[in-house]
Amino acid sequence: MEKTVIELFAGVGGFRVGLNNISKIDKKGAAIEKKKFNFVWANQWEPSTKIQHAFDCYNLRFPNSHNSNIDIQLVDKNKIPNHSLLCGGFPCQDYSVARSLSNGKGIEGKKGVLWWQIRDILIAKKTPFVLLENVDRLIISPAKQRGRDFGIMLRCFSELEYAVEWRIINAADYGFPQRRRRIYIFAVKKGTSFYESITKSNITNVFVKKGLFARAFPVVNENIKIKETNLKQYSNLADFSDKYGFPFENSGYMLKGTAYTSKTKPVVRKAVSLSKIVESNVDKHFFLTESEKNELAYLRGSKRIPRTDIKGHKYIYSEGAMSPYDDLSLPGRTMLTSEGSINRSTHIIKDPTTNKMRFLTPIECERLNQFPDNWTNNGMPEKRRYFMMGNALVCGVIKKLGEEIEQIIEGEQ
Ligand SMILES: C[S@@+](CC[C@H](N)C(=O)[O-])C[C@H]1O[C@@H](n2cnc3c(N)ncnc32)[C@H](O)[C@@H]1O
Repeated sequence: MEKTVIELFAGVGGFRVGLNNISKIDKKGAAIEKKKFNFVWANQWEPSTKIQHAFDCYNLRFPNSHNSNIDIQLVDKNKIPNHSLLCGGFPCQDYSVARSLSNGKGIEGKKGVLWWQIRDILIAKKTPFVLLENVDRLIISPAKQRGRDFGIMLRCFSELEYAVEWRIINAADYGFPQRRRRIYIFAVKKGTSFYESITKSNITNVFVKKGLFARAFPVVNENIKIKETNLKQYSNLADFSDKYGFPFENSGYMLKGTAYTSKTKPVVRKAVSLSKIVESNVDKHFFLTESEKNELAYLRGSKRIPRTDIKGHKYIYSEGAMSPYDDLSLPGRTMLTSEGSINRSTHIIKDPTTNKMRFLTPIECERLNQFPDNWTNNGMPEKRRYFMMGNALVCGVIKKLGEEIEQIIEGEQ
């Protein structure tokens, strides 16, 4: 099997940077790529803006590649090149399905929900391996029917004859410079050798030894308590969508319609601290003005604010205090798309050379995600550079998973 890849919802290319271990850009702006994995197609389209900053960046870094800049919903799935691995970080949306009004019998996922696009590709292309990333709240969504959306996703995978593993990983637990918790999902199609070997394993072994996540990111091998849930209950997906819920834990494995889940603990490694990624002599516009300092002091301070909800009920909204600036001896917190703006969750550091408070620079944000310096410096506005990093991922996590996936694919016929 060749190590061919398609990257969906590609953004500025975090999966490709990670899988191909990219750390440099050449004089023309292209990534210097070792091509461990051969990226045969990538898709990125931002619905909310006319200018396609993420795609432009991807295309500059990966020229001479088959990069597509249209809504994935408009792509003819049969025309996507054959590939061994589909990867992508897709938005967390409401996956519920309803009985279709048009033919009375069918079921329909909501329009615009991108999970169904992934499923359509898996149906059309019979992709052997799938690696997805999403926010960790996916397993508890929606709030009123926790676990439903993830259950729908697992049931779809099961119907398409995949075995699935998942793990919520806080990148800093495994030594990376950001406390970013994300769910990673790895699906393996029946018929591959890896499917045969993993499905012969006992379930606990998948969690602690044999599974992709256990191999790349070890967990404490004691007290593994496993709960299970039947994803075949309810005769059709619409009933399942109406009724299903389950308290999924941070780790799991799904085989033939049964999901096994356990709360695992990482074997923790010391993380890279913010102090290791900060730049020196940064431009003066990154430093806080007096009024910005006051605004941020208020936003990061503790507060109790009387509010009224949409039904007219009055309540007190309260928030605890955050430290006035981020501790340089710790890894970064989760970067959001609002990084670099006046916002409670924005990183504020005490500049080590001047001792004055400032925002992180876009390069520091790239370092928190382990992109090469200036990766997003392709002419897009500074605000958008922060936005791209808030949307992206810690590439080192993908690199580590990629090293295992490489071996898995090399073991296939
Ligand atoms: C969470 S981000 C993924 C970021 C990416 N992993 C990276 O490293 O930069 C999701 C991406 O999906 C893109 N997107 C949203 N709707 C889309 C659609 N209908 N078709 C294609 N891409 C879409 C967004 O523009 C965004 O870049």
